Amino acid sequence: MNKTITVIPGDGIGPEVIQSAIKVLDTVASNFNHQFKYQYAKLGGVAIDEDGTPLPQETVDLSKKSDGVLLGAVGGPKWDTLPGHMRPEKGLLGIRKALNLYANLRPVTAYKALIDASTLKREVVEDVDLMIVRELTGGLYFGEPSERRTEADGEAVVDTLYYKKSEIERIVRQAFELARLRRKKVTSVDKANVLESSRLWREVAEAIGKEYPDIELEHMLVDNAAMQLIRNPKQFDVVVTENMFGDILSDEASMLTGSLGMLPSASVSGDGPGLYEPIHGSAPDIAGQNKANPLATISSVAMLLRYSFEMIEEADAVDQAVTEVLEAGYRTGDIAQQGEQVLTTEEMTEKVIERIQLVVTN
Ligand code: NAD
Ligand code: IPM
Ligand code: MN
Repeated sequence: MNKTITVIPGDGIGPEVIQSAIKVLDTVASNFNHQFKYQYAKLGGVAIDEDGTPLPQETVDLSKKSDGVLLGAVGGPKWDTLPGHMRPEKGLLGIRKALNLYANLRPVTAYKALIDASTLKREVVEDVDLMIVRELTGGLYFGEPSERRTEADGEAVVDTLYYKKSEIERIVRQAFELARLRRKKVTSVDKANVLESSRLWREVAEAIGKEYPDIELEHMLVDNAAMQLIRNPKQFDVVVTENMFGDILSDEASMLTGSLGMLPSASVSGDGPGLYEPIHGSAPDIAGQNKANPLATISSVAMLLRYSFEMIEEADAVDQAVTEVLEAGYRTGDIAQQGEQVLTTEEMTEKVIERIQLVVTN
């Protein structure tokens, strides 16, 4: 098959993990007889520096014209003092909105080989397999007015948490559809004891739940959910929640797998190209050092193959290669135990590529 992929490396470790992803895609292409065409686009700090805007129009146009978008990460200290609308992160929010990517799927899989890389006890994290379904184009990130100093003296500020019923309906429905393919349980996370938006969220979740009598629905307050994720993560199957809660809970959940550097994501809308990115950021503390764990981005490639290209065998090969590399004991610094050999980003990528080739020939 011929596919065009818009590739957005971004900032910090973004370009490093994207390079790994491209090598993996090239390996898949040659082993499965596909042609992947890459069109590179700028977003975030690099776009601010070169084009004076965090989201050049060309990046949106190229993305819309492709079969899928692959993104590294954006941001960094260099741009941290810019006004809100000029920050790298605004570019990321802009591309998500422009592509209408309201559903962000963040699977949390505890690899057996990494159980001891988690800071939690083995029996707590073993066999964890949950999916965070994060609403991605609404809530506090997009409500207007936003990012405003409301008093002339700058002594007051406003951000707005706004949700339309239709926005909640579509994301909750997405969660139920996913649960149907999994263990048939949805936990809807909110703050309905305080927020009106959460009370609407809960109402909508209940109503949609009636359409899915085969799926168990439970509601959980977000503070409790943060605790339950650490206490007993195996109780969760699909977790659906609003934008910011999902952002925070997914970083927390990543530690069940041993590292933030392990978690991939898919952002989809139902029509138009999906966007695939690791959940981590640009990691300025390790950028440029060939130290970043590329597995979150490589697993995002597997999600791209699976969800946007329907290349199931190819996606399975990538996922299996990641599992096997971990089982063979290969580690980047973030997932290494004391005394274990630490591989560079590039070395880890090579190991994955070797395994993909083995998976295919066997
Ligand atoms: P971060 O995710 O970049 O890093 C948090 C910690 O995790 C750091 O210690 C980092 O070294 C480590 N880490 C992250 N990814 C790793 C990987 N692949 N391998 C090994 N270690 C990894 O979060 P932060 O430090 O809070 O934010 C840094 C910048 O990234 C900020 O500008 C932020 O806005 C941005 N950010 C961007 C995205 C994105 O583009 N999707 C996501 C989160 C943060
Ligand atoms: C993420 C990031 C982004 C978010 C930031 C960089 C805008 O933290 O993708 O998780 O909060 O969505
Ligand atoms: Mn985040």
